[in-house]
Amino acid sequence: MALPTHRTAYGVKILNANHKEIRRLKREGHVAELHGNKFWNSSFLIMNYLKKNPLKKKVRILEIGCGWGLLGIYCAKEFDARVTGIDADENVLPYLQAHAQINKVEIVGEKVSFQQLTVERLKNYDIILGADICFWDEMTGMLFNLINRAKKAGVETVMISDPCRSPFTALAERCKKKYDKVEVVAKHLSRPVKASGEILIIDL
Ligand SMILES: C[S@@+](CC[C@H](N)C(=O)[O-])C[C@H]1O[C@@H](n2cnc3c(N)ncnc32)[C@H](O)[C@@H]1O
Repeated sequence: MALPTHRTAYGVKILNANHKEIRRLKREGHVAELHGNKFWNSSFLIMNYLKKNPLKKKVRILEIGCGWGLLGIYCAKEFDARVTGIDADENVLPYLQAHAQINKVEIVGEKVSFQQLTVERLKNYDIILGADICFWDEMTGMLFNLINRAKKAGVETVMISDPCRSPFTALAERCKKKYDKVEVVAKHLSRPVKASGEILIIDL
């Protein structure tokens, strides 16, 4: 029996490695270099949270370290959100566009690193989302500084999910010390896959 070439979760189509579009992009040499080679389950933690705590319609979202961008795509589909996905690795962007197309939404994808997101640029967004983006020690400081710039820019909320690696836990601790409204929500999902971790939510 042929293996399925895609799956659907939270209303979003996710292409499997054997899908012809994914195979074509790999053949063309789009090989991710910073772990953006697949869709990571931490995005499901935020999707699950947002299903119960919906966003206002047409909110302006920046998904950072977007990889294949499924979290942003979920927000575009579910909340008619205006979504930009940024990633330091340009090789992930064709995978983001392939998923946007198959999910019939428009997403802007740009090669930009966390460090390059200036206050001026961040003024264009209401919410910053990120899934599984705090996995090396140096990312704690990078993301903490980014959150500080987001505050200056008037961003309302930052949400970052993670399977609880130590750089993420360190980031949560630093945010709790600096900001008044910080929540860390633990999530244990059994569907669509087994996934557990935490969502750091900073109400700026
Ligand atoms: C583990 S993947 C997660 C991808 C996606 N968020 C998901 O959940 O499927 C981490 C992503 O962060 C990106 N990344 C790593 N360092 C970055 C940086 N300094 N600035 C922007 N993106 C970065 C990688 O290229 C990769 O796409």
